[in-house]
Amino acid sequence: MDLSITVNGMTFPNPFLLGSGPPGTNARVIAKSFDAGWGGAVAKTVSLESAKVVNVVPRYGKLRSKTSGEVIGFENIELISDRPIDVWLEEFRQVKKEYPKNILIASIMEEYEKSRWQELTRMVQDTGVDAFELNFSCPHGMTERKMGSEMGEHPDLCEEVTSWVTEVSNIPVWAKMTPNITNIKEPSLAAVRGGAVGVSAINTILSVIGVDLETMRPMPTVEGHTVPGGYSSQAVRPIALRMVSQLALGLPQDVSISGIGGIENSHDALEFMLLGSSTVQLCTGVMLHGVKMIDELNEGLEKFMVDKGFTSVQEIVGKSLGYFSTHMDLVQKMKAAKRSKAGEASRDNEWAQKDITEKTAELTSN
Ligand SMILES: Cc1cc2nc3c(=O)[nH]c(=O)nc-3n(C[C@H](O)[C@H](O)[C@H](O)COP(=O)(O)O)c2cc1C
Repeated sequence: MDLSITVNGMTFPNPFLLGSGPPGTNARVIAKSFDAGWGGAVAKTVSLESAKVVNVVPRYGKLRSKTSGEVIGFENIELISDRPIDVWLEEFRQVKKEYPKNILIASIMEEYEKSRWQELTRMVQDTGVDAFELNFSCPHGMTERKMGSEMGEHPDLCEEVTSWVTEVSNIPVWAKMTPNITNIKEPSLAAVRGGAVGVSAINTILSVIGVDLETMRPMPTVEGHTVPGGYSSQAVRPIALRMVSQLALGLPQDVSISGIGGIENSHDALEFMLLGSSTVQLCTGVMLHGVKMIDELNEGLEKFMVDKGFTSVQEIVGKSLGYFSTHMDLVQKMKAAKRSKAGEASRDNEWAQKDITEKTAELTSN
C-alpha cells in the first residue's frame, strides 16, 4: 500500500520522521533509520559555533509508572549538537547522496543576528537538504544565549528571524514551536508571516523530573545541582494533541503541521494525523525503543487505512477536527439529544399501551 504523502512539495515515503535529537545525532544513525524504513529525519539542531555548546552528564531523567515501571515521562537538559558545522555539512551531503528519496530536514538555531542566521542558512542549503526546521523552542541552556524558546516565546522575533531565513532560502521552512507559552497560535502565525510554510509542534515542556529524597537534590543532578529541563514522552501527548489541534484550526489551510510529542506507536501517530498533522516526529520513543519501531508504525497505519477505507494518507489528515466545538454548543447538543430520546421513550410507551390495530388505524390516512 502507498503510504507516501506530499507536504510543501516534498514527497515523504511515509509520514514518520525522526524528531530532532539523539535519533538524528549524525549521518550514521540517520542512514540506519532510513535503512529501517523511516520516511524522513530532522537532524539534531546545528549552529555555527559548536565550541559554545558544552553538554553535561547526566542530562536525562525518567518518570516511571508506579505500577509497571514503564517510562511515561522523560526530562532532558541536553543542548543542541556539539559537533562542528563543517562535519555536519559533509554529512548532510553524504546522506542526501545515498538516500535521495528520503526527506532530510536540517534543524538550525543561531543567536539573534541576521548575518549569522543567513550564513548558516546558505551553508546548509548548499548541501542539498530538503527543508529547514527553525528551532525556536529548545527550553533550556540555549535560552541563556537568547536562543531557542527565548525566540519562540516572542512572536515578533519569530517573524523577524523566519524572514531572515526565508529571504535567502529556496527550500521549505518549518518553524518548531515551544509549548511553554499560553497561546501557541500567536508565535506560529508570526513565523508564517515571516515565510514559514510549516509548523512543527511541540518541543519539550519545562519541567523538573523529581527530587532525590536521600540527597534532597533535584534531578538530573550534575555536581549536586540542576536546571529545569524539557519534558517529553507519553505524558506530554495530550498537551501536544491539544496544541496541534489549535494550530490546525487556527493557521491558514496551506500551512503544514508536523506533530510531535509522546508518540510511541501507530495509534498515537494516527491521533496526531486525525488532528491535522501531515507528518509526525518521534524522538524519546526512538531513544527508548529503537528505530525498529517503524515496522509497527507502517503496519498500523496501513491497517487503519484498510479498516476505515482510506486510499491515501492525505485523506486522514485533519479528519477529526470537525468534532471540536464550544462548550455551549455541547450543552445544546446534549439537551437536544435528551429531548429526542424522551420523545422516543414516550412513543415506545404509546405503542406498548395501545392495541396494534388501533395504532395502525391512527397512522393510516384512508
Ligand atoms: C534528549 C533530547 C534531545 C533533544 N534535542 C533536540 C534538538 O536538538 N532540537 C530540537 O528541535 N528538539 C530537540 N528535542 C525535542 C524533540 O525533538 C521533541 O520535540 C520532544 O522531545 C517531544 O517529542 P517526543 O516525546 O517524541 O520526544 C530533544 C528531545 C530530547 C528528549
